[in-house]
Amino acid sequence: MAPLLRLLAGAAALLVAVSHASAWSSAVDVGVNWGSQLTHPLLPSSVVKMLKDNGIMKVKLFDADPWPVEALLDSGIEVMLGIPNDMLEIMSSYGSAQDWVKENVTAYGDKLKLKYVAVGNEPFLKSYNGTFMKTTVPALKNIQKALDAAGLGDKVKATVPLNADVYVSPDDKPSSGQFRPDIDDVMTDMVKFLHDHGAPFVVNIYPFLSLYQSDDFPFEFAFFDGGRNIQDKDGVSYSNVFDANYDTLVSALKKAGVGGLKVVVGEVGWPTDGNKNANMKLARRFYDGLMKKLAKNEGTHLRPGKLDVYLFGLFDEDLKSIAPGNFERHWGILTYDGKPKFPMDLSGQGHDKLLAGVSGVQYLPHQWCVLDDEAKAQDKLPGNIQYACAGGDCTALGYGCSCDGLDEKSNISYAFNMYFQMQDQDVRACDFDGLANITDKNASTKGCLFPVQIISAGGRMAPALRWTTLLALVAHVLVMGFIV
Ligand SMILES: *[C@@H]1O[C@H](CO)[C@@H](O)[C@H](O)[C@H]1NC(C)=O
Ligand SMILES: *[C@@H]1O[C@H](CO)[C@@H](O)[C@H](O)[C@H]1NC(C)=O
Ligand SMILES: *[C@@H]1O[C@H](CO)[C@@H](O)[C@H](O)[C@H]1NC(C)=O
Ligand SMILES: *[C@@H]1O[C@H](CO)[C@@H](O)[C@H](O)[C@H]1NC(C)=O
Ligand SMILES: *[C@@H]1O[C@H](CO)[C@@H](O)[C@H](O)[C@H]1NC(C)=O
Repeated sequence: MAPLLRLLAGAAALLVAVSHASAWSSAVDVGVNWGSQLTHPLLPSSVVKMLKDNGIMKVKLFDADPWPVEALLDSGIEVMLGIPNDMLEIMSSYGSAQDWVKENVTAYGDKLKLKYVAVGNEPFLKSYNGTFMKTTVPALKNIQKALDAAGLGDKVKATVPLNADVYVSPDDKPSSGQFRPDIDDVMTDMVKFLHDHGAPFVVNIYPFLSLYQSDDFPFEFAFFDGGRNIQDKDGVSYSNVFDANYDTLVSALKKAGVGGLKVVVGEVGWPTDGNKNANMKLARRFYDGLMKKLAKNEGTHLRPGKLDVYLFGLFDEDLKSIAPGNFERHWGILTYDGKPKFPMDLSGQGHDKLLAGVSGVQYLPHQWCVLDDEAKAQDKLPGNIQYACAGGDCTALGYGCSCDGLDEKSNISYAFNMYFQMQDQDVRACDFDGLANITDKNASTKGCLFPVQIISAGGRMAPALRWTTLLALVAHVLVMGFIV
């Protein structure tokens, strides 16, 4: 490291140390989702240290990958382990559920502080067309039965994290909440089972998506300090969509005969890029309001008291599908390299302080892949940009995003660089038909970061493009070549 950089890093470390010395501020009891859909994962043991430094003592994982799970052993951190949707069908056989519990739970003994098993992830999303409708509840029942048989049923509960679209309110009032008519039967069966086994209902609530999905949505109602209210019956007033949504669920549970069922918010958060409303300023405003709310233990109108909440998510994940929107890769409260993005006070006192980042992160060489000014084959640009964006990540280039303001040349360089970095700076990933060059000049501009990737602690490389895409690309390039 150059001396100046070392000095800066030292100063940053000092800053973090100082802001964490404040003894009065204990973190609220909040959990985080630790996802793994990224090309360059950080070392799990460093992540676990960071969690403890921040006083975050609950995590939710989307599968039971031994790599993070082993780092969590003996950490004192409480864990919710996920079973992916594509395993639900297998888990509807009891023997497979027993095998899962044996390999992914019992094998760790008391070292793993397991609290919940999340069977599936939002399996009833409308966009899945009912694919997991028949297998989810049998899988849930089998996993709980296997936990019971292993003697763990009293302390480990199986549940199913669901998207907030499993319930509706015909007149938009929280008190009219009910399960979606097309899944009412299966939901009723499920919540009765959860109730009988002392398991909670886990729901993901996203005020950002309410805003994203409807231009008519009242902007201020997405936040906790908006001063915008909606009225329910009997003079009850809601000042934010999170509370209104939560109470719509509570009403639906009551209607299904399990009014007292415990509710856990499995995911809540705000993204910082990839959409005009996804930025640091609004994310900071949202989290600030959320943390203050949690610290007050005020709960909602129908459920006063402490809320049980997991933030989404820990890091930006560059392999997440962008089918729901370009913001999908930008949900992290920390950056891809484990740094806090904006001030966030987990004590809920609104102090201007940063989370502790992940320490010991190492970077690839400080170099970038950019468009070569002198390159001749300009006709091959469109195909190569398409290639770079398909295998890389261009989600920061859109309207209202962090790299929206780039000129055309920088725009192309951005795409090339993202692809190059995600491919671990392989020189072959900075060719683009001779249109690109590697440079050691930082290509970042104000607000638009051209990242240098980290040395991956393991995991996967960006997927090589599928041959169908390649064929399409070859055809494209051939046609372009023909024309010229
Ligand atoms: C344990 O979990 C891992 C990770 O989710 C999974 O790949 C594996 O199949 C599970 N084991 C069994 C026996 O189901
Ligand atoms: C669901 O159905 C729609 C419309 O029929 C289709 O476009 C989509 O690919 C389907 N999705 C899945 C996951 O099957
Ligand atoms: C930059 O790239 C994005 C995504 O490919 C595109 O939508 C935008 O029009 C480009 N802007 C310029 C100035 O070329
Ligand atoms: C890029 O590399 C090529 C080949 O090494 C070289 O001819 C060209 O001058 C370089 N362009 C720039 C802008 O450095
Ligand atoms: C490149 O510049 C950006 C913006 O000035 C900065 O945030 C980033 O740390 C720099 N990258 C390196 C590797 O120096």
